[in-house]
Formats: sequence, C-alpha cells, structure tokens
Amino acid sequence: MPIETAFTRKFDVKVPIVSAPMDLVSGGALAAAVSGAGGLGLIGGGYGKANWVDAQFREAGAQRVGIGFITWSVQRDPGVIDIALGHKPAAMMVSFGDGEDIVAKAKAAGVATMWQVQRLEQAAQAAEAGVDCIVVQGQEAGGHGMDRGLVSLLPSVRDLVGKDTALLAAGGIADGRGLAAALMLGADGVMLGTRFWASAEALGSEAAKARLVSTKGDETVRSKVFDVLRDVDWPQNYTGRIVQNDVLRRWHGDLGGLSQNLSAERARYLASDEDDYSTRVLIAGEALDLVGSIEPAGDIVRRIEAEAQDILARAPGFLR
Ligand SMILES: Cc1cc2nc3c(=O)[nH]c(=O)nc-3n(C[C@H](O)[C@H](O)[C@H](O)COP(=O)(O)O)c2cc1C
Repeated sequence: MPIETAFTRKFDVKVPIVSAPMDLVSGGALAAAVSGAGGLGLIGGGYGKANWVDAQFREAGAQRVGIGFITWSVQRDPGVIDIALGHKPAAMMVSFGDGEDIVAKAKAAGVATMWQVQRLEQAAQAAEAGVDCIVVQGQEAGGHGMDRGLVSLLPSVRDLVGKDTALLAAGGIADGRGLAAALMLGADGVMLGTRFWASAEALGSEAAKARLVSTKGDETVRSKVFDVLRDVDWPQNYTGRIVQNDVLRRWHGDLGGLSQNLSAERARYLASDEDDYSTRVLIAGEALDLVGSIEPAGDIVRRIEAEAQDILARAPGFLR
C-alpha cells in the first residue's frame, strides 16, 4: 500500500522521501534518480553558482526535480534564484537564514516552497512566510545545522504549526525505521542527505564514498573548524557535522589558536591531496551507522519505502 501524506499530495510525488540539496554532491543525476523512483530529488544549489545550477538542471533532463540554496549566501547574489526559477523546479528550498524574500519570489512564480529549520522560533518564522513545507533538521544531520535533537523538536514543530503545513524530518534517518518513526513523530516524510551521499549518482570521488562506508556515526562531530579554515563566512550559531580527522583533533577545542595560525594552517590544508581525509573535510552525519554500501539512489528510495510499509503494516501488533 502506498504511503500517502500531506507531503506526497502537496508535492505530487508517490513516496515521501526527499534527497537533500547537498552542495556539490546533489547534482542533476542524483536528483533525477530520486524523483525517478517516486521521491523528490533536490539539486544542491549550495552557495549559489549560476553555471553549476544551469548544468545540473540540464543533467536532470526531463525528470521533475527541485533545488535548495544556502539562504545567507545566495542572498548576496540573488540572480541565481531567477535562473533556478527559470527551470520551473518542482520545489525551491531555503536553508540557514531568513528566507522570506526567496519564498515570496518562488510562490509568485508558482513554485512549491520548503524551508529547513533547526529551532522552534525559525519554524514559526517559516510558517509565517507561508511555506508549503518545513524541513525540521536535528543536530544528528550531516552538514550545517544547530544543536537540537530531532525527537523532541519534530513533534514540537508539529504542535506549533498545526496540520496545514507539511513537515519533513531530517537528521540521522537512513532506513525505513527512520521513515516510520518520523511519521509517528508528526512528520509527513523525510529528507535524507548522508544516505544519498553514499549513492552511485552522488557527485564526489570514489575515495570519499569509500570513506563514508568505512566510517561510523561516532566518528562525526559538529564543529566550526572547517569553515574558519576554508574561509567560509557562516553565521555564528551554525556548526557543521563532519567526519573526525587530524585537523579537527588539533583545533576543535582551540578556535582562537586556529585564528592565530590561520595562514599557515590554510596553506597546509590547500596543499593537501583532495582525497586525504586525515586533513580534508568530509561532510556526513550520524546516519553513517546505517550506511553499508554505495547503492543506486533509486534502490535506496525503494528499499526505505518497502521497509517503512512493512513496519507500518505491523504496527497494530503493538496493541492488545
Ligand atoms: C554532504 C552534505 C552536504 C550538505 N549540504 C547542504 C547544503 O548545501 N544546503 C542545505 O540546505 N543542506 C545541506 N546539507 C544538510 C541537509 O540538508 C540535511 O539537513 C541533512 O543531510 C539531513 O541529515 P542526514 O545527513 O543525517 O540525512 C548537507 C548534508 C550533507 C551530508
């Protein structure tokens, strides 16, 4: 039996599984594979490079895909939003910052909107802006985010926004148990990043993907070290969950020391091999525990759907 939710109805998809708009990882091929399997694939518009965005929509071909941007970055060069809207995306997602202007523009263009939040007050702001879907991200997630766990944040957001806004759960979900649990906590579907990063279609080197498979969630940490090192100007409250390595071990507890030694550390970082993950950043979340191999993204969608259907079908067994 299909899993039908407010999300599948609003976004006209068969399966309530969305691939996250991961910067430089979620290209058109990954987004198209997820949409092709009945979910919704999002291109990772990231910091907002127009040529890359154009190329990835072309890569997705005729498949219906959406796109997501890092709000505070894309607002510095908002022309890329018009370029993305010109491709008539299935959804426009904003994340990390005040996205009202982008949401309003997308709505005016008739494009469904999503806003990823990390705190209750942000959820209230997103609901006020009239988004079609709020993505509730817990601290378990790979990549940037904040410090709240998903299990209490998700039902709290549901209580706050009521029934009319579709909710997706993000952070630490990589199988059908996570999808079924998210539905029970008040979500209408899930957004997965780490699980789709370890897919055949994700952009990225084989070495990076092999490292994902051999690493566990315990080996990830939330830190600001790599944003300081790479000179990416993230707002103060955000950290990024990444895989532990030598650079993190040295500087995680000493950001002041890193700032004092910045030019030497940055030069060392840039001189390292791109696949040397003892130095280079590898973004991934706690869900690595549940990633056993690199698989085609469509197979991941179909397996998670089938697992969740099986769990939901057995749910009455808990009642006596
Ligand atoms: C490699 C990677 C890159 C990411 N890049 C972005 C990004 O550019 N924009 C964004 O909104 N979220 C980004 N995220 C976060 C996702 O939107 C999502 O919240 C997260 O992946 C969900 O948690 P999970 O990784 O446990 O599935 C990224 C996540 C990963 C793993």
